[in-house]
Order: sequence, then C-alpha cells, then structure tokens
Amino acid sequence: MKKRIVMILAVLALIGVLAGCGKEKNNTATTTPSVTEGPTATSTPSPEPTATSTPTPIPEDTPTPTPTPLPDPVGVSIKEIFGAHGVKAGTCLTTMMTGNADTAKLIKEQFNSVTMENDMKPDYILSEAKSKAAGEVVVELTPNIITMLDWARANGMAVRGHTLVWHSQTPEWFFHEDFDTKKPLVGREEMLKRMESEIKQLFEQLTEKGYADLFYAYDVVNEAWMEDGSMRKSNWTATIGEDFIWHAFNFANKYAPENIDLYYNDYNEQFKTSTLEKFVKTLVDDKGNYLIDGIGFQAHLYTKDDLKQYFNTVDTLSKLGLKIQLTELDVCLGKYQSPQMPTTTHLLEQGRYYYDLINGLLERVDAGTLKMDALTFWGFSDGMSWRKTYSPLLFDKNLKVKPAFYGAAQMKDLCGYGE
Ligand code: GLA
Repeated sequence: MKKRIVMILAVLALIGVLAGCGKEKNNTATTTPSVTEGPTATSTPSPEPTATSTPTPIPEDTPTPTPTPLPDPVGVSIKEIFGAHGVKAGTCLTTMMTGNADTAKLIKEQFNSVTMENDMKPDYILSEAKSKAAGEVVVELTPNIITMLDWARANGMAVRGHTLVWHSQTPEWFFHEDFDTKKPLVGREEMLKRMESEIKQLFEQLTEKGYADLFYAYDVVNEAWMEDGSMRKSNWTATIGEDFIWHAFNFANKYAPENIDLYYNDYNEQFKTSTLEKFVKTLVDDKGNYLIDGIGFQAHLYTKDDLKQYFNTVDTLSKLGLKIQLTELDVCLGKYQSPQMPTTTHLLEQGRYYYDLINGLLERVDAGTLKMDALTFWGFSDGMSWRKTYSPLLFDKNLKVKPAFYGAAQMKDLCGYGE
C-alpha cells in the first residue's frame, strides 16, 4: 500500500514537472522582438542582420545569474566616465522608468541624456481626431512627452529627439486623402505639405513651450535603407518618391532651432556602410552644404558580431566629416541565428564586448578621428528591454549590475578581462 502511495506521488510529481515545463514554453518569447510598451508593438523593428533563419527562442523567464559577485557600482558613473571624453551617456526613457523610484535613481546616477523610447514617434505626436477635425495635420505634445521633458529638465538631462519620418510607428491615415484609410494615398505635393507641416509644428511647439533648448540632436529620418543598397519601400516612397529623405532634411533645416543637430538613424549600419556613404553625400543644399549633421548608428548588436567590421564602418563614415552617435546600443548574447543563454561565460563575454566596443570608440574620439558627442544605450535593465530575451543591457532585470556595466564603464578587471 505504502509502495502504491509512493508511486502515485511520484507520478503526480512528474505530471507537475511536465506541466511546469509546458508553462515555461508558453512564455517563450516569440521570434519577433517586441517593444517594451504595449501600444507600440505596431512597429516593425527589424534591426537584425539579413535574417535567413529564425533565431532559437530562449525561455523568457530564464534567470540572468550574476556570474561572480560583482561589487555594487557605488560611485561608478558612466556619464562621468564618458564625460571625460566629451561624450554624453544616454538611455531610452519611458514614463514607467521616470515613475519608479529605483529606475529613476539609476538613470540620474548613470546618464545625462535621454531619448523617448516611443512617445515622440509619429504614432504618438500626430493627432488623428484633431487632424480630421481641422482638415490638416495636427501635431500634439502629449502629456507623457511633457512629463518626460519636465523630468529631463529637472534632472539636468539633455534630450535626443526620435523620430520624425519613419516607415514604422507612423499612422496609416497620415498618408491617405482626407486622413481616411479607405481613400487612396495622397499625391506627392500633398504629402510634402504634410511632412513639412509635421516637422514645422513639432519644432514650433517645442520652442513655444520652452523645451527646445533641452534637445541637442534629432532623428529626422529613421531606417530608410535596406542591406542590399536599395531604398525601403514605404508610404513615404509611394507618395513622395525616393527624394523624401532630402525633403525631410530640407524642412528640418528650415524649422529646427540651431542647437539641434539633425541625424539620419539606421540599424545594421555595419552592413550598409557604402550605401550610407553614398547617400549622405546627396544630402546637401544648392551650395553643396550638408543638410545633415550626423549619422545615428542604432547599434543593436550581438556578442558574436565582428568588431573589426564595425570599426571599419565607424572609420569609413567618420571620413564624411559628420558626427556619429551610437543611438540605441544593446548587445544580445550570441548571434542572431543562435542567441545564447545568460551563463557566466556568456555574460563575461558580453562584458568584454562592451569594453572593446566602447574603448575603440573613445580612443577614436580622443584621437580626433571620430566626432561622437553622445552614446545612447537602448535602456539599462534587461527586464525592460525590447530584446529582453537575449539579456542585452548593463543591469539584469533586478537592476543588479552585470559585467556589461563594467565593460561600458571601461573597468577592465570587472568586465571579464580580470577572470
Ligand atoms: C528601432 C527604432 C526604435 C525602437 C526600436 C525597438 O530601433 O529606431 O525607436 O522602435 O526599433 O525598440
């Protein structure tokens, strides 16, 4: 009898374990990385190398162990370390982060620049109801934007604007006659007017409301090029044509305050080097002066990505004489086709990767061959990252420091080189 009870208990335990496994599988991340805040999932963020295969999913709630006990980063501040090289340290920002005491404290300690992760994208600043009522494009700075700009001001943060003209996270109605998606797309002249109006209103409102001085850079156009050198097909190319980028920069030049540098921002920059090199040279006015101030490298990387190739892109595009910023840096473990688990070994490798990448950039800044006045991480905590499944950031989901932090902070002994 006793034996039978033991058997039954064992079977029940086994069922429990299997049920547990199933649960974990259900939580398994889908292969399309999603942005952290719900409503933004309309975006098609595809900053992955010419993906041919599907990445192996990693269970979402895999714990991110801290390898060897790392000292708390008391007194270590990335903004001070970068500041010694004239580089601002940035993070993306949400109201969830500013509204939470722990994350707000961490941001204040480590960063002096912020980029709104989503709230200044066209989906958020273009008001459908007001545009329809007015019969023309209406831009609105939403309460979330105002909250974050006030927070930035109160905490001495500079702001990167992101983004004005993009194929993704831009409302479909914006491109259609009478702002009605059932009607055809508007023609070139009308869309140029709408683009101009969006850009004009945005900068006017920032100026009128007294926020323009916070901004030092703005992504005018995001992700227009493909890895094969062709231009991405979008509502912008369908309505205006391929010169939509030139017009966007022309309008931005006309309306942006002087203190704001104008950026073209893209992902997979290391696979688009010659495309970007050729294209940037076309962004000039009739006197041959650049309409653009800088190129934003999104830098959504993997620890197996080739740094030599990356620095080749940095060096080639630096020669254009423009500024370059890393605008959305995060480094996943492994490679796109085969991401890795957050084991001690992989986390130390990530620490070294952050060290080497940032070291190479700062060396170039110091030598005067790279004009980089800011480096922005796309967040700080693995738990809040759009790529959270692949542990890409400097702190784990419990805000515990990772070797990656010490790599970014250029502390060689603690980032994986000391072991
Ligand atoms: C791209 C965009 C960002 C963001 C990420 C995903 O990189 O430029 O704004 O949407 O995708 O968070």
